[in-house]
Amino acid sequence: MKYNRIPLVAGNWKMYKTPAEAKQFARLLREKAQGLGGVEVIVCPPFPALPAVATELAGSRIGWGAQNMHWAPEGAYTGEVSGPMLQALGCRYVILGHSERRRHFGETDEQIRQKLEAALTYGLRPIFCLGEDLSIREAGGAEAFCRRQLQAGLSGLGTINPADLVVAYEPVWAIGTGKTATPADAVAVIKALREELADLQNEAVAGQVRFLYGGSVKPELIGSFMQEEEIDGVLVGGASLNVDSFTAIIRGAAEVRGQRD
Ligand code: PGA
Repeated sequence: MKYNRIPLVAGNWKMYKTPAEAKQFARLLREKAQGLGGVEVIVCPPFPALPAVATELAGSRIGWGAQNMHWAPEGAYTGEVSGPMLQALGCRYVILGHSERRRHFGETDEQIRQKLEAALTYGLRPIFCLGEDLSIREAGGAEAFCRRQLQAGLSGLGTINPADLVVAYEPVWAIGTGKTATPADAVAVIKALREELADLQNEAVAGQVRFLYGGSVKPELIGSFMQEEEIDGVLVGGASLNVDSFTAIIRGAAEVRGQRD
């Protein structure tokens, strides 16, 4: 059975851009991305820039999301932001389980599982990030490790609407380092993850959920990733901060996708 998964290009701005810078970027992106069809595009700014981005992108094809959220709808959690708050800003997506959150803020698999559950409950689509570090890759354990992260994040979630979940395979050693996994490496892990998802959910869900690659994606590499049937898009950090490189990535994805359809 052939599934039609719409490619997704998502920009993770991390802790960059003031509201004014974000607004300017969103305005330019809206202009430059015109006519680049067949690919879904979103940007994930830092929280304070979300309202400005939402205003600039309202009514366009480009969506926006957040980079994190708490699992509770509200409560005494100083410094945190909840799903319903993000939903009220028109966020469609939320990045969860990013390796920088796991590493610098000690996020555990169990917390990420609770966040995934909350995002789905409050109408946000999680972009669930997972990936191995270099020692695991060198020891040949990447696929098994990523399968375990997927299982930990999705355990107990019940049947998922496949349109609501995106999984981003982001090998830790490739994030912000300039080292990119080869498309073949990414395909091997994503295939293993799809198998795991079929076990956890069912074949139809596994066939329809979109799997992205992330880690030092650049305009010159996008074609080689998007040519792979298994890879449904990219999560872009550094190269999403510049409107020209981000647009070049969207264009590259749209070109390949156009040929494939
Ligand atoms: P990078 O970041 O593209 O700068 O490697 C990717 C990410 O952190 O999502």
